[in-house]
Amino acid sequence: MTQAVSSPEEFRGACDAARARGHRVGLVPTMGALHEGHLALVRAAKERAAFVVVSIFVNPTQFGPNEDFAKYPRDLAGDVEKLGLARADLVFAPDRKAMYPDGEETRVHVGALAASLCGPFRPGHFEGVATVVTKLFALTGASVAVFGKKDYQQLAILRRVARDLFLPVEVVGHPIVREADGLAMSSRNAYLTAEERKKALALSRGLASATRAFDAGERRAAVLRGLARTEVDAISTSVDYVDVTTPDGLVPFADDAVVGDRALLAIACRVGTTRLIDNVILGEDPAPSP
Ligand code: PAF
Repeated sequence: MTQAVSSPEEFRGACDAARARGHRVGLVPTMGALHEGHLALVRAAKERAAFVVVSIFVNPTQFGPNEDFAKYPRDLAGDVEKLGLARADLVFAPDRKAMYPDGEETRVHVGALAASLCGPFRPGHFEGVATVVTKLFALTGASVAVFGKKDYQQLAILRRVARDLFLPVEVVGHPIVREADGLAMSSRNAYLTAEERKKALALSRGLASATRAFDAGERRAAVLRGLARTEVDAISTSVDYVDVTTPDGLVPFADDAVVGDRALLAIACRVGTTRLIDNVILGEDPAPSP
């Protein structure tokens, strides 16, 4: 049974003690409602660190006023059980007051990496993510932290935060874990009705179609984007973006541009009322199957 603690002091003490025993600390930050994608992050952390800690915290500062903070799925007991089976060493499940005590006011400002993709649609989101993850880096003193590539922009921003603030943590990105039919795993998939779940396959189908075109030599940004967009337009309630960007700076390619050897193709749209995201790195990732 994996132990769960809720106080930051206790959490920091357990991480300090592990380091004093000569162990590297590995961190997997989550918001809970864990699925196989999260457990893959834990396994990846276990390969890199002897003492792996998983935080479960639905972080209020990364949700906008009209987003799903209140209804975000929560299942602490189920999560702790899954983390026991995945052999996580410690779970940190603080409450809001513990992470944001009265009077706290410091935020980690993020720059141009937040200007594209989800940034304009979720004002303040990445500042909230960067702030809470920096707190977790500080509490754990982790040598390595593992994040899923489904939140590709988040990963890019957190890498930059670690680099810019000289934080002694290696930020590792883990490939997207998909269901057998191609749907990217997400805690928010739990919101989908059976019919919406079928419609949601348009995201991975659109990415697959663009990936196949890229692999066959297509480099026109508008064509690659269009292939994904056609699939997504057919099923979405609304589309925030289907964008092709540079893979590191996340700068969108103009319609008349030609992409290089690698490019990010990313989607955010609503299926019913659920906002879903997905992406591929063209030139690097295989086409999502089937
Ligand atoms: O990816 C998530 O679940 C969250 O954004 C994270 C990294 C745990 C920060 O709250």
